[in-house]
Amino acid sequence: MQIIHTVQALREWRKTAGRVAFVPTMGNLHEGHMALVREAKKHADSVVVSIFVNRLQFGQGEDFDKYPRTLQQDADKLAAEGVAVVFAPDEKELYPRVEQRYNVEPPHLQNELCGKFRPGHFRGVATVVTKLFNIVAPDAACFGKKDYQQLAVIKGFVEDLNFNIDIIPVDTGRAPDGLALSSRNQYLSEAERAEAPRLYRELQQAAAALKSGATDYVAIETAATDALTAAGWSVDYFEIRHADNLAVARAGDKKLVVLAAARLGSTRLIDNLEVTLV
Ligand code: PAJ
Repeated sequence: MQIIHTVQALREWRKTAGRVAFVPTMGNLHEGHMALVREAKKHADSVVVSIFVNRLQFGQGEDFDKYPRTLQQDADKLAAEGVAVVFAPDEKELYPRVEQRYNVEPPHLQNELCGKFRPGHFRGVATVVTKLFNIVAPDAACFGKKDYQQLAVIKGFVEDLNFNIDIIPVDTGRAPDGLALSSRNQYLSEAERAEAPRLYRELQQAAAALKSGATDYVAIETAATDALTAAGWSVDYFEIRHADNLAVARAGDKKLVVLAAARLGSTRLIDNLEVTLV
């Protein structure tokens, strides 16, 4: 496995590679990321994994500085999975100018759900993923459903801007107690970690209500928000949306997704669950 740090060297390597599948990450890899890598292997001769903590997608007061950076451990895990290349550019390599002048601007969806609480976040994601796509030039790229809105944004610009890349969604990897794996879980205290699976349990309960025929979406959302709040969470949102375009769900919709973001102490956790009604 090669660890490549510059755009030029990556482009040189790419000339001789066949079909490439790409997994963009910010590193500090866990089993959720590794599931993406294993899926990527099914789609190409070579897998490229990028590791880059993208300043552009972090807001003021967010955890850019303390985001865990563990390149050597990450590289060891990826080598064991047969990854061809780790692309780990310095910040100057991806952002040689002080200011990024041109950005990929998502539509109104970027101001909803997580975007409402993280202004500019999805512009930062869409812009860096576009840059990485242009550098790596993959045939396919894997993204986790854990970040459901991010996946929707990426599918959206890939379609609208004619990127010739298959976007492959991968199911959310979870701890045995249901908590979605995330690099941010390590910020949780022991007590918070014990409490954290409640978020998924509330999603499951909402899904069960929908499956049993409940149609009052607001009542389901409110019940879950109240339960989380009573247990000490600070809920950013708990919403039922259409799974395809994340539009607000309407009566009779069959393909739904329940999405939630809530904070335990200073740690913000997100999760979601798809619900298909028959
Ligand atoms: P990061 O949070 O490192 O996640 C990298 C990829 O792993 C994303 O596609 C994310 O959805 C996926 N992932 C994370 N946790 C997962 C889990 N528990 N199960 C399945 N997939 C999971 O997402 C980003 O980085 C960045 O925004 C990035 C796309 C790299 C752009 O900077």
